Amino acid sequence: MQTSKRALITGITGQDGSYLAELLLEKGYEVHGIVRRSSQFNTSRIDHLYVDPHEARARLFLHYGDLTDGSRLVTLLEKVQPNEVYNLAAQSHVRVSFDEPEFTGLSTGVGSTRLLEAIRMIGLECRYYQASSSEMFGATPPPQNEDTPFWPRSPYGAAKVYAYWMTRNYREAYGMFATNGILFNHESPRRGETFVTRKISMAVSNIVAGKQDFLYMGNLDAVRDWGYAKDYVEAMWLMLQAEEPSDFVVATGTAYTVRDFLQFSFEHVGLDWEKYVRFDERYLRPSEVDSLIGDASKARDVLGWTPKVLTPELARLMVDADSKTIDLRTELPAQL
Ligand code: NAP
Ligand code: GDD
Repeated sequence: MQTSKRALITGITGQDGSYLAELLLEKGYEVHGIVRRSSQFNTSRIDHLYVDPHEARARLFLHYGDLTDGSRLVTLLEKVQPNEVYNLAAQSHVRVSFDEPEFTGLSTGVGSTRLLEAIRMIGLECRYYQASSSEMFGATPPPQNEDTPFWPRSPYGAAKVYAYWMTRNYREAYGMFATNGILFNHESPRRGETFVTRKISMAVSNIVAGKQDFLYMGNLDAVRDWGYAKDYVEAMWLMLQAEEPSDFVVATGTAYTVRDFLQFSFEHVGLDWEKYVRFDERYLRPSEVDSLIGDASKARDVLGWTPKVLTPELARLMVDADSKTIDLRTELPAQL
């Protein structure tokens, strides 16, 4: 499908940003992304999409910016004039948010307000997507849907609750097309290396290759509803094509423990996970989210969205991907 739409993505260098950029380019969008200045390039997830902007066929454009810098968001939005804004940028690691609660609030929480306010200040007519999270449900028991009360259990969760309500407030106060996608955990071979699924898939491929002896983990009893990031960015796009702005849960509706994910991953290469996994309390959180299982009936009924990849297949495809790229990887500092 061809379109002349222009989208701006914050967090384009992250897991979801890279898949969303791919999807929008396929749909014919001109895509603009905000990239943080860093002493080394941080664009490895989108390098395959990049075309020199001097070439006429270039449709992906990157701009320096940061969600903690409100005036930059104003100049950028004014210059780009996007039809759709996807706010995916965040300090997104729950465990890290206990170490950096203030920065997490400034970027993950207030960052969204800066962006919404920049849109309002310049009078930009656009549709806005906020990357809300199942982490907002925290201690409220599953199944969780759009009407489930929030009970965040981390500075990250609390920051996301604030951003969620600011998004709703801009919708109600100023009539903005502002939508929250409440996404449950979603993973892929591009997942950050310190999230549990990727940590496991990398460890499995390292163990098979003789590069690692043991995998140190925290709470194996946590229950999560893990889907595939590629499926989930499709839901983000569908939300901004809907007739009305609203809030949508996106999930598979299935439940597995971290222990199950270990089993699927190790089994795939013929190994018994219990021989390789050891406990380290460093990976426990001061307060844990025990169980997240989403009810995505509204996304199915209103948007026509359903997940294609479920957790066991996801675990296998991540192990396969990490096994193929093992020689290209630099290893992680152990304490992360
Ligand atoms: P991710 O891989 O951690 O990517 C986060 C992105 O945000 C990166 O591009 C990062 O840039 C950027 N970023 C961080 N702080 C920033 C700042 N101050 N200014 C500008 N950019 C900043 O996260 P993800 O898994 O793709 O998730 C995307 C969004 O969905 C996040 O908001 C996350 O909280 C939310 N979410 C994720 C899940 C999930 O399971 N993946 C579920 C629900 C909600 P660098 O590359 O420079 O670090
Ligand atoms: N990261 C990590 N590392 N988690 C571990 C480990 C470990 O060694 N051992 C056990 N876990 C448990 C965590 O305690 C948690 O219960 C579960 O594995 C999942 O942890 P993460 O993969 O770090 O994800 P998360 O659920 O805390 O947060 C992710 O999902 C949210 C949506 O619910 C992130 O992507 C958030 O940004 C997202 O909003």
